[in-house]
Amino acid sequence: MLAVRVLEKREAAIDVLSFVLVAADGGSLPPCSAGAHIDITLPNGMVRQYSLCKADSARGAYELAILRDPDGRGGSECAHRDIHVGDTLTISHPRNLFPLVPATKSVLFAGGIGITPILAMAEALHAHGHAFDMHYCSRAPERAAYRDALGQAPYARQVRFYYDSEPDKGRLDAAAVLRALGGDAHLYVCGPAGFIAHVCDAARAAGWSDSRVHFEHFAAPAAATPTGGNVGFELVLARRGIRIPVGPDQTAAQALLDHGVDIPLSCEQGVCGSCLLPVLEGIPEHRDVFLSAAERDSNRCFTPCCSRARTPGLLIDL
Ligand code: FES
Repeated sequence: MLAVRVLEKREAAIDVLSFVLVAADGGSLPPCSAGAHIDITLPNGMVRQYSLCKADSARGAYELAILRDPDGRGGSECAHRDIHVGDTLTISHPRNLFPLVPATKSVLFAGGIGITPILAMAEALHAHGHAFDMHYCSRAPERAAYRDALGQAPYARQVRFYYDSEPDKGRLDAAAVLRALGGDAHLYVCGPAGFIAHVCDAARAAGWSDSRVHFEHFAAPAAATPTGGNVGFELVLARRGIRIPVGPDQTAAQALLDHGVDIPLSCEQGVCGSCLLPVLEGIPEHRDVFLSAAERDSNRCFTPCCSRARTPGLLIDL
C-alpha cells in the first residue's frame, strides 16, 4: 500500500471532482501505464477503485476524477464530501486490467466518467506518436470532465464530442466509425454498461473479433437475482481438502472469509477481477462483467465476490 497526500481537489465538471495525489513522504509514486487504476481507502473505510486519468511521472503525481453518484453505494459521496486538500490517504499500487496493445490504429470511446482511463490512453498514444481517434459522449458539455483540456490538447482534432443535450450537433454512430477502420485497429471503451454494450455490439456487427475489443466497466450493472432467490452451493478447496458451504444469502467470497480463507477483494461487484479463482470442476453462474465471453464459456475461473454456481458445488484450485 502507498500513503499519498491530496495535492489538489478541483471541479472537473458538474458532479465531477478531480484529485491530484502525490507521495506523502515527498518521494515519487510508482510508474504506471495508461488504463491503470488504484484502490483508494476512503475516509469512511470503504475501498473503491478509480482509474488514473493522468500519471505524471515528472511531477510524481496521479490524477483521478470521481463522479458523485447519489444512487451509488456511498463511495463517491464520501470522496466528494470528506476528502480535502492536505489529507493523507492510503492507496494500492496501480494495476492495469485495461492496457493498450500495439496496433497501427486505436479508437477510443468514452461515455461520461468513463473518460478517465480513456484520457490516459489518449495521452499515451499521442506521446508515443501512435494513430488514434477519440469519441467522447456526455449528457451535456458542462458534464464532460476534461472537455477544456481535450479541446486544447495537441491532439484536439482527433477528439469528437457528442452531447445528449445537443443532438443536432451529431450523435455517435459507432457502427459507421468501426466499419471505416482497418482490420488491425483496436478499440477501447469505458463508460456505463449500456454504452459499452452498444459499442461492443456495433463492433461485433461490423465484424470485429473480440480480441480487438477492449472494455472496462466502472460499475457493474445491477445483477438480476433469479426468481425464487439465490440457491446455496458448496465450494471444495482442492489443495486444502476443505468443503465450505455457501448460503443463499452470502457470497462465495464471504463464505471463504468466514472460514479463514483470505482472498483478495476490491470492487466486490465483479468488475475488477481481483478475486478471480480457478475452477477445476463444476459450472459457475457468472455474474461478473470482468471475464470475456470466451473465458466465461470455458468455466475455468469465476469471481467469488458475485458469481455463484449452476452445479451443487465447485471444485476450486485453492
Ligand atoms: Fe472485483 Fe471480485 S472483487 S471482481
